[in-house]
Amino acid sequence: MVKKLVILKDITKTYQTGKVSYQVLKGINLEVEKGEFLAIMGASGSGKTTLLNIIGLLDKPTSGSYILDGEEVSKLSKQELAYIRNRKLGFIFQAFHLIPWATALENVLMPLLYRKEGISKKDEERAKKLLERLGLGDRIKAKPAELSGGQQQRVAIARALIGKPKLLLADEPTGNLDSKSSEEVIKIFRELNQEGITIIMVTHDPEIAKYAKRIKIIKDGNFIEK
Ligand SMILES: Nc1ncnc2c1ncn2[C@@H]1O[C@H](COP(=O)(O)OP(=O)(O)OP(=O)(O)O)[C@@H](O)[C@H]1O
Ligand SMILES: [Mg+2]
Repeated sequence: MVKKLVILKDITKTYQTGKVSYQVLKGINLEVEKGEFLAIMGASGSGKTTLLNIIGLLDKPTSGSYILDGEEVSKLSKQELAYIRNRKLGFIFQAFHLIPWATALENVLMPLLYRKEGISKKDEERAKKLLERLGLGDRIKAKPAELSGGQQQRVAIARALIGKPKLLLADEPTGNLDSKSSEEVIKIFRELNQEGITIIMVTHDPEIAKYAKRIKIIKDGNFIEK
């Protein structure tokens, strides 16, 4: 069994805008073991989202090696990456990114639509159970606009969990929430982590980061070693 879920070696990322190139990540090394809850912090523009998008296979590094769950993924095709993303990763974003015309339940089931097996009755039951667990049992037919920010983020958490991911990635998951909803969301993260799910979360907020088991700070394209 693979113990290290994420191994990044000398990851760099350079953005090219016209003739100007800008190196955001300057040789990131990171190992994340199964069961960890890691928070990544750093100033605005320091490259947190860039790094999380690389870990989440939404973006490719300019150079370096990335071994996810025992497999080198930095050279895979878009299609292969999409497959791994759908099977192994769950995403939670600051702006929720729910589909506005779909109900809470339909939003949760959405990732399974991309699987050729499709959606079974069992999946639907599981989606309902997830929503119930997250305190939304009576809101499964509500559209995102009919839900509060905290409720929308809980729908997004259920959606991230429906595919039974190995790794949950969250970019400022409490960034759009008031302090009460933020606390609810971060407590859910901690519970999920205690149940064994590995989490990597980006946050500005030290109050939120302290729920993680480990904190890494990124500055000038690299982690500050502590
Ligand atoms: N597609 C892009 N093209 C060019 N530059 C980019 C692109 N995406 C990000 N950048 C630049 O890379 C740097 C890092 O951006 P990133 O979004 O990773 O920062 P961040 O740490 O997540 O910031 P924030 O806390 O504000 O979300 C920034 O200077 C940004 O302007
Ligand atoms: Mg960001």
